[in-house]
Amino acid sequence: MTVTRVETIKDFRQLLNGLRTEGKQVGFVPTMGYLHDGHASLMRAASDDNDVVAASIFVNPLQFAADEDLEDYPRDLQRDSELAEANGVSVLFTPTVDEMYPFGPVLTSVAVPQLSDKYEGATRPTHFSGMATVVSKLFNIVGPCRAYFGEKDYQQLAIIRRMVADLSIPVEVKGCPIIREPDGLAMSSRNTYLNPEQRQAAVVLRRSLDVGVEAIGAGARDRAAIEAEMLAVIDAEPLAQADYVAIVDASSFDVPATLVNDVRLLVAAQVGRPRLLDNCGVSVK
Ligand code: PAF
Repeated sequence: MTVTRVETIKDFRQLLNGLRTEGKQVGFVPTMGYLHDGHASLMRAASDDNDVVAASIFVNPLQFAADEDLEDYPRDLQRDSELAEANGVSVLFTPTVDEMYPFGPVLTSVAVPQLSDKYEGATRPTHFSGMATVVSKLFNIVGPCRAYFGEKDYQQLAIIRRMVADLSIPVEVKGCPIIREPDGLAMSSRNTYLNPEQRQAAVVLRRSLDVGVEAIGAGARDRAAIEAEMLAVIDAEPLAQADYVAIVDASSFDVPATLVNDVRLLVAAQVGRPRLLDNCGVSVK
């Protein structure tokens, strides 16, 4: 199936309304482009569950702070269209900033405090409200049955789930597993910023998670002690500066003193230019 690219909200809505009138269920994959196998896996999951898959590519200025990489965020629309088409996307929405925000400054914003203030939000205080605002706007434009997000941005996923529940947005949010490079590095569009030495060093995030998982598997339950072991792994890599290492309840993001039930191990570190994130889930018996 060939992909149809649309740039205006009006055309996108019209096309999707037509498909819904034919009784088709729409799955939606929002992205910022520079697509990789992680995005491809979301598109394939959407294609398995739905009659049609719509995706968007929009580098959303609201979720970048003034000193971040908005201007040079990697872009390759031709390659992205081909990847989207090859992975089952039939409608690709690629709006301009003026199309999405025609009135200049956006006066309405969606905030999910508490879940947004810590970890990524502590370093990037405006990021999650910008992200939640554009995702709710995209949901309003698309009206999908299901929407697909990678677990790599686990805090983002938790915020979107809570936003959808709090606002009764009629969409099923599907989290999809992290896709990794052969050495374990989680795929990310920003990995392209790494030079060869930094690229090798970046695998330290995954190693730190492995140490946490092994400790829990061996019976450790003291959260702070496990976090300290994980942090030591990152600190031992001269090219990485740890931002945070945390073990949280997988759905509430609360911090348990002693580990029980489903927990999520989170790590973030600066490696050269990019801040890299990784995480994994553990069911504590
Ligand atoms: O994860 C992303 O790529 C972005 O945060 C999203 C969900 C597409 C919103 O801009």
